[in-house]
Amino acid sequence: MPITRQDFPADFVFGAATAAYQIEGTAAGGAGPSHWDTFAATPGNVIRAEDGAVACDHYHRWPEDLDLVQAAGLKAYRFSTSWPRVMPDGVTVNPEGLDFYDRLVDGMLARGLAPYQTLYHWDLPSALADKGGWANRDTALRFADYAAVITDKIGDRVASIATINEPWCVAWLSHFLGIHAPGLRDIRAAARAMHHILLAHGLAVQRLREMDTRAPLGIVLNFEHATPATDSAADRAAAARQDAIYNHWFIEGITRQSYPDLALAGLAPYLPDGWQSDMAIIGQPLDWLGVNYYTRTLHRHAPDHAWPATATVTGPLEKTDMGWEIYPEGLTYFLTRLHRDYVGNLPMFVTENGMAAADQMIAGAVDDPARTDFLFAHLAATRDAIAEGANVKGFFYWSLLDNYEWAAGYEKRFGLVHVIYPSQKRTPKASYHALAAMLAPETAK
Ligand code: FCB
Repeated sequence: MPITRQDFPADFVFGAATAAYQIEGTAAGGAGPSHWDTFAATPGNVIRAEDGAVACDHYHRWPEDLDLVQAAGLKAYRFSTSWPRVMPDGVTVNPEGLDFYDRLVDGMLARGLAPYQTLYHWDLPSALADKGGWANRDTALRFADYAAVITDKIGDRVASIATINEPWCVAWLSHFLGIHAPGLRDIRAAARAMHHILLAHGLAVQRLREMDTRAPLGIVLNFEHATPATDSAADRAAAARQDAIYNHWFIEGITRQSYPDLALAGLAPYLPDGWQSDMAIIGQPLDWLGVNYYTRTLHRHAPDHAWPATATVTGPLEKTDMGWEIYPEGLTYFLTRLHRDYVGNLPMFVTENGMAAADQMIAGAVDDPARTDFLFAHLAATRDAIAEGANVKGFFYWSLLDNYEWAAGYEKRFGLVHVIYPSQKRTPKASYHALAAMLAPETAK
């Protein structure tokens, strides 16, 4: 059955998402360096060593980009504010950076778009990276200061504030797997980052509450369905360890002020002394939860590896251009599991979901039927979760634009809108038009 606007409550929010480093262009506006600039400048980390210096030049082209959000019939725009743009050395304010976000938020409001802000989408100021970044507790305190500075400027007009985007990526992917900046493969740094990123979240929430921030406060967590590679007890246990590290650690910390035993089994020796006394800060009451969901992964027991002794296995399902299996059922699974086990009726938003495809521009148009299918299948999965009782209030497609896909550089295209980087020409893809037609069938051409 095709999905329609009527499948969702009238107040359900449809939006598109982006992030500062991936679109703005860091060369403009007095932004300071971040650890992504140096990670990209180090051979072997990023395809073609590409970085975010220009990206989609959104710093200059934001009016056109917001027009595209509006013209799709979307009513919300999820964006991130860049810490090194607001505070180039992590602590000193850059008024030009504040003014940029001031204009951007006013631009959203002028177009009837609700601004959904994320405070940290991975661009850590280099000056703080030099001092140990997320392995250093002090970074969490500096983050709360940054949260206060940017909220003092735009907090009166944003519709929603998320502290951190995807703590698993910030901590595990970046300090244990070494795939994102700072590219470490160190269990001690990883354990500390797993804790400090949540401490940063809790301290920022405390600070923003003290400021009587009007906007609802939340966090954006990512979930990946951890599937056992076989039905053997060993593989099921491996998938359970993966599930604990990826899908339980952060939500359990926030909602229960504890960490899962299966993850502590490996990480406890490396956590900072006295971590338990931070848990009350980490467990600040929230107004909403953001859920990012893309795929599932298959895990097998890897007895020759150190803890967590898991390895991934290629799965049989159809894959996106990232090589990620397409598994919409996983989204229903997580939304209902979070509702049942962790957040009850707290409002949830699907803050990211989307796919990369090897899009081709032919005669000025981009036909991307696989993306439309992917989007509608995940909207249907969201509808199913609502039918099962999950309090899901909105859905944001990742991403509005083709953009800087981190370690994959500009190679992978997730956008509803195609970007030709040398000319910065934007072209809405067929999926953009399909979404617009779903949102406003009567006005669609
Ligand atoms: C998520 C990130 C986002 C984008 C998508 C594809 O993990 O939050 O920035 O890279 O994946």
